[in-house]
Amino acid sequence: MATTITVRQNGSYKVEGDDVKLVDWNGNEYTIPKRPFALCRCGHSKNKPFCDSSHKEVCFVAAEAAQAVGDDTPSAL
Ligand code: FES
Repeated sequence: MATTITVRQNGSYKVEGDDVKLVDWNGNEYTIPKRPFALCRCGHSKNKPFCDSSHKEVCFVAAEAAQAVGDDTPSAL
């Protein structure tokens, strides 16, 4: 399975892929509790770098969507 990272609307980064490993700045590997897993994007997780759903409590808002290939419509600012 190819690795896919999905930017969730108002939420975490969902990471899918059996060959994905997550390392810290020293190259030490985190234990992945389950797959797929989610990484915190809001900065409020008490279990960083993993998402613990705290983004819901803080009403994290981030809904930037990728522009579709071939779509030349200007992005909203
Ligand atoms: S994105 Fe879920 S806790 Fe930060």
